[in-house]
Parts: sequence; structure tokens; C-alpha cells
Amino acid sequence: MNKHDVIVVGGGLAGLRAAVGLCRQYNVAVVSKVHPVRSHSVAAQGGVNAALGNAPEGRDDTPERHAFDTVKGSDYLADQSAVVEMCRMAPEMIYEFEHWGAPFSRLPDGRIAQRPFGGGGFPRTCYAADRTGHLMLHTLYEQIVKHQVRVYDERVVTRIVADDGQYHGLVLWNLKTGRFEGLASKFCVFATGGYGRAYRNSTNALINTGSGIGMALRAGITLKDLEFVQFHPTTQFGTNILITEGARGEGAHLLNNQGLRFMERYAASAMELAPRDIVARAIQTEIDQGRGFQGGYVQLDLRHLGKERICKRLPGIRQISIDFGDVDPVDEPIPVQPGQHYSMGGIDTDVTGRTNVPNFYAAGECACVSVHGANRLGGNSLLDTVVFGRLAAEAIAGRFSDFDRKPDAALVEAGVRSQIERVERLSGRGDGVPHHEIRNRLQTLCTEKVGIFRNQEDLAEAVRQIGLLRRQYQDVTLKTAPGPFNFEIVNLLELESLLSLAEITARGALARQESRGSHSRTDFPERNDAEWLSHSIARMEGDEVVLSYADVDVSRYEPQQRTY
Ligand code: FUM
Repeated sequence: MNKHDVIVVGGGLAGLRAAVGLCRQYNVAVVSKVHPVRSHSVAAQGGVNAALGNAPEGRDDTPERHAFDTVKGSDYLADQSAVVEMCRMAPEMIYEFEHWGAPFSRLPDGRIAQRPFGGGGFPRTCYAADRTGHLMLHTLYEQIVKHQVRVYDERVVTRIVADDGQYHGLVLWNLKTGRFEGLASKFCVFATGGYGRAYRNSTNALINTGSGIGMALRAGITLKDLEFVQFHPTTQFGTNILITEGARGEGAHLLNNQGLRFMERYAASAMELAPRDIVARAIQTEIDQGRGFQGGYVQLDLRHLGKERICKRLPGIRQISIDFGDVDPVDEPIPVQPGQHYSMGGIDTDVTGRTNVPNFYAAGECACVSVHGANRLGGNSLLDTVVFGRLAAEAIAGRFSDFDRKPDAALVEAGVRSQIERVERLSGRGDGVPHHEIRNRLQTLCTEKVGIFRNQEDLAEAVRQIGLLRRQYQDVTLKTAPGPFNFEIVNLLELESLLSLAEITARGALARQESRGSHSRTDFPERNDAEWLSHSIARMEGDEVVLSYADVDVSRYEPQQRTY
């Protein structure tokens, strides 16, 4: 069995940034389901926030203003000291990428260009046209190659081996060989992304199954705030491919079927650049009240920006619109609808990425620090990945020599054997429900009953039906023989996590009798700080998930009413 000092799981921005931070001193390996540059960070479009103050209208911007906007955007659920730290580090992180050669778009004077994003008082979002994630991920991957970091790609982690409060190693399904294998290490960082694929309409890649978060839960690691799920206002109607908020940052308008810029009804001052929770609800309301277009969409109109600006600043979404919707935004508005986009909740960590298992860390979308609270601002997720990837690396480096417990390779071997036996049992069964039927039902249920607008009846029904699906999953069967590139095994094993996370999301949403950020209860329309200014915590006790609540750090800014 191979052993490493640190294993990073996830080849996106958070994982690679953690690996780069450790690889000069330690024997680090990255494990990834896909080749790292195919990780979901590659799909991030509009940009990354940092108070550089470069744009002429943004000269007065400061990290403190960035922090306040983030806390307000979070509907006061974000932990404020963590937000302040992230925003303080933001400019330094951008310059680090610039020095590594990231080709950010530029102002005429050569400085990094910045555009406005929702909920930010200033043009604060640095960008590379509308392919920011793509360019940052490739830049970081160059560092991985340069430092010769070992990458185990096309390996799906199926189990965290932990015992007595200590992490020891991982069991992986090797897609190329069709066999399980073990890896042991002293420390582990999970950067495995969110669980957007619990929903039918999502901007997320098919790999975003929440498998890392679900596995962590089963290994005794605590989760936080899963009921807060972000719906991006503008996804392409029908496909739900992301149509970046950067389009509205460049000046695009949202129009209903009467040709009205309806955002004036919902956020008269910020208009299209209100935070995502508000814009997504506004669009859904227009559609639900009959002011959308046939099928359920509104229009995103870029035409007044002109062809040159669209081609220069937004070439990616122009191409997506043409290729997948047969609409050229130079000539016609883009049909858009809200779609699931981001998991604000995840593995409960402190600001250094540390979890309740002392040698197990998490960073990026799979983690909940929490800097996004109940609603993340656009442009803060790329920032989160690189800041907390780096802080996790620094924390591990600082603790490495003091942590003197060695991983137990025999335990990891036993973990491998148990996974092999599990797959043998699944293969040996007769007729069970095919896993894809359970997954499809789950996605429809989450979309219809745990979506943008929620209520007691729908949420209770979702909890009940997810419980039934979980029971059906006990009888699920593997139809095909294990072997190389058998995705049935992967999909079947990962469905376990998706079911648990969906159930916790629905239970947390049912319990939370208030509206806050992305969690909007039609039966409890107001935020209720007296009773609900708290994080929800989920942990396994025996076979059951138990919910409890923890304080929010409100040490910097007094919660206020949120208007835009
Ligand atoms: O709209 C976007 O470009 C997405 C950005 C983000 O989620 O931060």
C-alpha cells in the first residue's frame, strides 16, 4: 500500500492550492475522480472577489467593505471573523495567481480588471473574460506539474478509514483497473466539492455528488448548515448550464414577458445586481405569477452591450447560448431560469480547515467554515477555495511534527476488504431497484419540495419520501460485473451520500422555521434572529443523524435588516 504524508482528495482549486502549499516540505498526493483540470472549478465563469480598488468606480473599496458585503449577503449567518480573514487575504491571493501567470483580463492601464457582482458595493470581481475558473485551475495545475506532485486520477474514494477519532487512510475505487486499493497518510484534506446533483436542475457537473461530505459524515465527522442551498438566478433554460452573473455585472437586463425590468419590484436600488437569493426568488415569482415565458423562463438581455463587448468580456456564455440554445445573445435575449448552483453547507471546519477529527481537514465547497452563511455572494467561491486551501496547508505544516500518531495500514487494508465484500454482496443480489431510478426520484423530490420556496407540508413530504428511498437503497442491486470504467459501481456507491445529504437538507429546512438567505419559507417569511441565528449541526449517532445548533460569530457587525 502506498503511504504519503498528506493526501488531498479533489483536484479542483481548493485541493490543488492545499497540495501546492505542502508539496515542497512533504510527500503529498492528490486523489481525483477526474483529471484535475476537469474538476468542477473549471466551470466557474464570472470571477473572483478581492478589494483591489482597480476599477475607476471602485477606488474606495477595502477588505473591510468586502467583509461587510459578504456578511450582509450571508443574511448574517456567516462567521464574521472568518469572513474578515478571507477578505483580508483576498488581494494577496489574486497577486499570487498573477505571479504564477494567471491571465486575468486587464484595464487599459494594465492593472487587473474588475467588474461588479451581486451584493457587492463596488466593482470587486477580478476576471478572465467569463472563463475565470478555467484559467485559475490551469494556472494552479502548472504548479502541481512543476513540483511533480503525485496525482492519482480516475480514483474514486469510497471510504475514509478512521478509528477512535483518528484518520488513517482511504479506500479508493480505481476506475482504470476496476479494483479497490488503499492509501495511508498522516493527514488528509478533503476538497471534494458540493452535492448539487441532489437536484435535477443544477449548474453542477455530474461529479458533484457530495460523496466526500457523505463519507465524512459516516466517518464521524460533523456537518454544518446543509439546508442552505444556493440557486443561481440565471442558468440556461432547459440545460441549466451557468450563464454568468458577470453578464449582469457587464450591464445585462432581466426582462419578463411584458418586457419589464422586473427587478425594480424586488430590489429597486441594486436591480439585477442584488444578491443571488433575492434575484432567484424574483425570477421564480415572475414565472409562478404568469409573467414568465412559455415553459418557465425569463429573458436575460445583453443586446445593448454590443457585439464587441459581448465577444470580449463574455465569449463563453455567447458560445454556450449558440451551441446549446441556438440563441446568439448579440441578437436575441437568452432564456434563463434559476437552477441549483452551490452548497453553502458542508463539513464543519474552523478557519484552518480543521474538523472534529484532528488530522482530517476540509476546504472549498465541501467545507463550511462558514464564510457564506445563508447565501454566498457571487465571486466569493473561487476566493474561498484558494484562501482555505492555503490555510489548511499552512495549518497542517504547522502541526505536522507535533502530531506523532502514525496511520495504521492494517486498518486501511481491512477497509479495502470490507469494500470488496460490499460490492460482492451488491452483485450477488437478485432483483432490486436500479440505483438510477432512486437517484432520479430523489432529484425530482429535492427540486420540487426543497427548492427556492419551501413550506412545512412539502418539506415533511420530502423527508418522508427520502426515508422511503433510503430504505429502497438497502435493496439496490449491481447489474453489471465490476471491471475497468464501470461507472455503475461508482454511481451506486455515491448515491448513499446523496440520499443522506438530501435528507439532512430537508430535515434542516423543515426544522428551521424562518426565512434567511437562500432558505425561504413561505409559511415563515421573516428572518427570526431571536430563535434561529444559529448554525445547524448534523452528526451520526449510531445509525441515526442527529441535528443540533451552534452559535454564529457576530463579533463584528450587528445583524440588521437586509435591503438592496
Ligand atoms: O455567475 C457566475 O459566474 C458564478 C460565480 C460564482 O458562483 O461565484
